[in-house]
Amino acid sequence: MNKVRRPTKEEALADSLAGVIGYLRARQYEGVRDELWKILLHASDRFVNNLAEHLKDEEAQIFPALCSVAPEFGTQLEALKSEHAGLADGARDLAMRIGEGDSTQALETARGLLTQLMEHMRREDGVITAILKSRNASALRRLAKLLPSSRGGAPVPSKPRHAAHGGKR
Ligand SMILES: [Fe+2]
Repeated sequence: MNKVRRPTKEEALADSLAGVIGYLRARQYEGVRDELWKILLHASDRFVNNLAEHLKDEEAQIFPALCSVAPEFGTQLEALKSEHAGLADGARDLAMRIGEGDSTQALETARGLLTQLMEHMRREDGVITAILKSRNASALRRLAKLLPSSRGGAPVPSKPRHAAHGGKR
């Protein structure tokens, strides 16, 4: 069975944003508490840093590698890159709202950003899966050499069973 496993870094990214939402919700119920606010600021900083690392990793290494073995997917990869810009804007907005101490607006922004992030990850999975299914074993080996080995949860290229015949690059 050919199953593309989401990188664990991306799961951690969504989890870290969900953590920010949890702290914002707690703050709404419990009012202003210095300790909770410090934890929230730390969680928010961690999410923003994790997101920046995710975007840099994909744009500098993963997308170019995918594009080199599947150039006809360039438009879809560019669209994913544009979504990254939207996610970065959302993260900046979230950090600003939290910095202003506006927990109601920050919570709304964080929830919207989590939805945006999950949709992005779903679309990204779709594009990566389509690329992997469209390549032959030789192209997948070439792709594996291009992908950074330190990326623990990177898509592991393997030849899909149904792609064993005809016309694959
Ligand atoms: Fe991405």
